[in-house]
Amino acid sequence: MSRYAYVAGRYLPQAEAAVPIEDRGYQFADGVYEVIAVEDGRLIDAGPHLKRLDRSLNELRIPRPMGDRALGIVLRRVVALNRVRRGMVYLQISRGVAPRDHAFPREVQPQLVVTAKRLTLQPPHLVEAGVRVVTIPDLRWARCDIKSIALLPNVMGKQAAREAGAYEAWQIDRDGNVTEGTSSNAWIVTAGGSLVTRPAGNEILNGITRTVVLELVRELGLAFEQRAFSTAEALAAREAFLTSTTSHVLAVTRIDDMPVGDGVPGAFTKALRQRYLAHLAAGSGR
Ligand code: PDD
Repeated sequence: MSRYAYVAGRYLPQAEAAVPIEDRGYQFADGVYEVIAVEDGRLIDAGPHLKRLDRSLNELRIPRPMGDRALGIVLRRVVALNRVRRGMVYLQISRGVAPRDHAFPREVQPQLVVTAKRLTLQPPHLVEAGVRVVTIPDLRWARCDIKSIALLPNVMGKQAAREAGAYEAWQIDRDGNVTEGTSSNAWIVTAGGSLVTRPAGNEILNGITRTVVLELVRELGLAFEQRAFSTAEALAAREAFLTSTTSHVLAVTRIDDMPVGDGVPGAFTKALRQRYLAHLAAGSGR
């Protein structure tokens, strides 16, 4: 089945969809994106994703190409055209197409591109055994809170993980603390049973999954702290896990070849994963 994309105001077979070579996304990574999960054909947490999109656009002073209603229609149409029941929709907005010049062009229209693809459930062995992460220096810029398409350090980091046979790389700041994964947020459970994740700030992307899991943590009445934690603290932790739109809640059972806790997914991670899957199944619009 051919895949469809939305580009320059049209729905086209992906093979025919193209952007001009002077798109500033292509030349300067001057754009932002979102990845939204699709469950049972419905967008999950579209509201918070579009709110974060607005924030990213505002920070980069890129105007919104269309309002929430119209954007929702485009996203749902691309999902339907690609017959995605379970998967993800990707949307990218660049500042637009203009002759190459670093400063903002005087007249330019933001360019929206939307694609969608099917994803199957995570392989059961990853969920059952948990995954391994490697640690790498965080080489990124000072505005990781913006979901920008400039992802070169993330790409290099994920490749380093792949070559090490790991699922993800946890990026470490100059103080020796974990910022986040290359495409996921990082969490630990302390020996005392408190959940710890880095506070939302310029050093991390404030994940929508992270926000939902924090709500679930509150609902369950679990102790939690939003603060930085070091690699050493993660290795001494009872449990560790990561969160993202596509990985959900996934146990991290090894860091740099050393086991975390018992080296198997722990009770907190399992409980939060179950709760998160229920949230997906409910197709909640929170
Ligand atoms: N990645 N941190 C980074 C650097 C990310 O790229 C992502 C998401 C997250 C988790 O955010 P959320 O829970 O909203 O998915 C954290 C997406 C899935 C991606 O780039 O494909």
